[in-house]
Amino acid sequence: MVRLYMVIFLLPILLLIENSSCKTALGRIVNGKIATAGEFTYQLSLRRNNKHICGASVLSNQWAISAAHCVENKRSSYSIRAGTNRRSSGGTIMNVQEILIHPLYNSDTMNCDVSLLRTQNILRGDFIEPIVLPKPTQPVPSDLAAMVSGWGHTGSSEETLPEELKYAQVYTIDQQECTELLRNYGVVTNAMFCASARLVDACQGDSGGPLNLNGVLIGVVSWGIGCADPDFPGVYTRLAYPPVRNWIQITTNI
Ligand code: ARG
Repeated sequence: MVRLYMVIFLLPILLLIENSSCKTALGRIVNGKIATAGEFTYQLSLRRNNKHICGASVLSNQWAISAAHCVENKRSSYSIRAGTNRRSSGGTIMNVQEILIHPLYNSDTMNCDVSLLRTQNILRGDFIEPIVLPKPTQPVPSDLAAMVSGWGHTGSSEETLPEELKYAQVYTIDQQECTELLRNYGVVTNAMFCASARLVDACQGDSGGPLNLNGVLIGVVSWGIGCADPDFPGVYTRLAYPPVRNWIQITTNI
């Protein structure tokens, strides 16, 4: 009798809970896949006081690149974890010795949201490989599939970070069109471009991380309105923009 009661009354309730969790899952690198070891050897976890705060990418055995807004807190100590798909284990942790923020970075407009991080020790090891930068002025044509990756939130309302690296394909968007879509929220400057896919996006904690187009690091995760909102694409720092690309070249010789 007790058993029968459980099936009749509890089953519908359990199904309901199951269903509602499906809904939040939809709003989910929101809606990305889990990376396997060795797939994103340029991906770094940028840590402030030993906690993951942002993504970053390997440029050479000495330099990493991230967003400026990730390293604004001058008093903190920053480190990177390299050579692993896991956010809080594996690979190696290295201290960041020097942080350079783009001279034109503006925290209100997010213009030139890019930073360079010089590591204390040589950035080398298993599963650690640099990614190539674009040439200055190299255009970002629209509707190209690019790969974004990171340990950021897997949903707009999700507060926890995944343990395993996630990635997703997003499509570059025409500059004019993106300017229109975001006109009530901010200016899409020449130092930015947009990319999105339906219900797929970068999110909080992915910032500073890579957007890879055919093996070239064309963008750095910068900002967005919520995450994976079909009305609002993600905004990336345009690394081929001459004031950005030339600054990287002059600073790092890369
Ligand atoms: N600013 C966010 C961060 O600090 C990332 C924003 C990206 N958002 C987006 N919807 N693409 O992690």
